Amino acid sequence: MRAVDIIREKRSGKELSKEELAFLINGYVAGEIPDYQVAAWAMAVFFQGMTPGETASLTEVMVRSGAVLDLSGIPGPFVDKHSTGGVGDKTSLILAPLAASLGMKDPMMSGRALGHTGGTLDKLDSIPGYRTNLSAREFRDILRDTGFAMTGQTADIVPADRLLYALRDVTGTVESVPLITASILSKKVAEGTEALVLDVKYGSGAFMKEPADAEKLALSLTHTGAALGIQVAAILTDMNEPLGRTMGNFLEVEECLDCLEGAGAADLMEVTLALGARMAVLGGKAGSVDQGLALCAAELASGRPRERFLANVAAQGGDAARLLALRGTYRSAFKGEVAASGSGFIAGIDAGQVGHTGVILGVGRNRADDTVSPVAGVEFHKKRGDPVSPGEKIMTLWARDADSLAAALPRLGKAVRYSPQPPAVSTQPPAVPAWPPVVSERCNTLSG
Ligand code: URA
Repeated sequence: MRAVDIIREKRSGKELSKEELAFLINGYVAGEIPDYQVAAWAMAVFFQGMTPGETASLTEVMVRSGAVLDLSGIPGPFVDKHSTGGVGDKTSLILAPLAASLGMKDPMMSGRALGHTGGTLDKLDSIPGYRTNLSAREFRDILRDTGFAMTGQTADIVPADRLLYALRDVTGTVESVPLITASILSKKVAEGTEALVLDVKYGSGAFMKEPADAEKLALSLTHTGAALGIQVAAILTDMNEPLGRTMGNFLEVEECLDCLEGAGAADLMEVTLALGARMAVLGGKAGSVDQGLALCAAELASGRPRERFLANVAAQGGDAARLLALRGTYRSAFKGEVAASGSGFIAGIDAGQVGHTGVILGVGRNRADDTVSPVAGVEFHKKRGDPVSPGEKIMTLWARDADSLAAALPRLGKAVRYSPQPPAVSTQPPAVPAWPPVVSERCNTLSG
């Protein structure tokens, strides 16, 4: 076999066999096939796409490029969630303890902030002492003891994805549905989950700007997941406006505590419960989405998920007492405010613009080796649909230093749109709770 023949085949739209994909990917990981050939193949995939069978084969080959976590001996069910990335999206930190509290196990391997999207690991790292670099042994023990464990991808898990993603990032080939599908699912299969609920986002703060593209991705993820033996359900959610009341690392941890204490923002709770309900169905804890919604709401109200969260903080080396003591005070000294420049109603706060400004503030990063600040971020005092008068406070922001504060202030001001009338979209729920085509065979009950 030769890489050049595989590239030519894909260039002309042919379906590659699993053997051809294994030759290419394994050769790349072994350093035998150079970047430029894999980049050419990725670009051919970008334009020609892949068949469902080919996407499943690529995912399988990527899983086999490294280790798979061994969760044997720990009672399941193992149910995880994954978001395609957003701004102010902190649902993982609420859902993992909620799922654990309902008797499921959530083996969550997460990523870091990149570009305008936030990262679960950076949020957790803002908790004093909390470790997100668990060994496989620690991951297993904490999962068994607290019902969920949160860690970064270890070097031996899907090495093909680490290499391929870095290459795609610099060759304009990230936005390919089959490549995104294989990238996300290979990591989820390797972490050992049996079921997965996906939050596929669309809008200015998401990878996929249009709902139709998000739906294509959701379908590809659910079908490929089913082909690999994982039950997958997906919902599509609106990411045109930041989710919840905050964007920032420690700020978002604080907001999750608010949610676990019954004081979550309406949009954030709606997405969280929509995802949690599907986790409960896939985990066999609820017979329908409606039952799952009621179950999750009641469990949150019991306070048990909050206790789970704090138990996990302690198990992962964090100082739970200090976390609680820092609430409301752990902020950068470089503070500013965005006041309303218009009147009437907030027509929207652009999530993409806010997310990109987050990188300037120190919340996120443009390059994998950039550092982030635990104490930078934005609090939104107004959301889409809220009435507003000129000069009223819309956002408070905290920056890593004076220069980033000065650069971020005008950008955040420009992210706000005003309208004389309440915006029609403000009445639409951000979550699409049941998207009938976007369920794998095993999950058809979810659409009912
Ligand atoms: N998230 C991933 O993990 N991989 C992609 O390719 C895109 C988003």
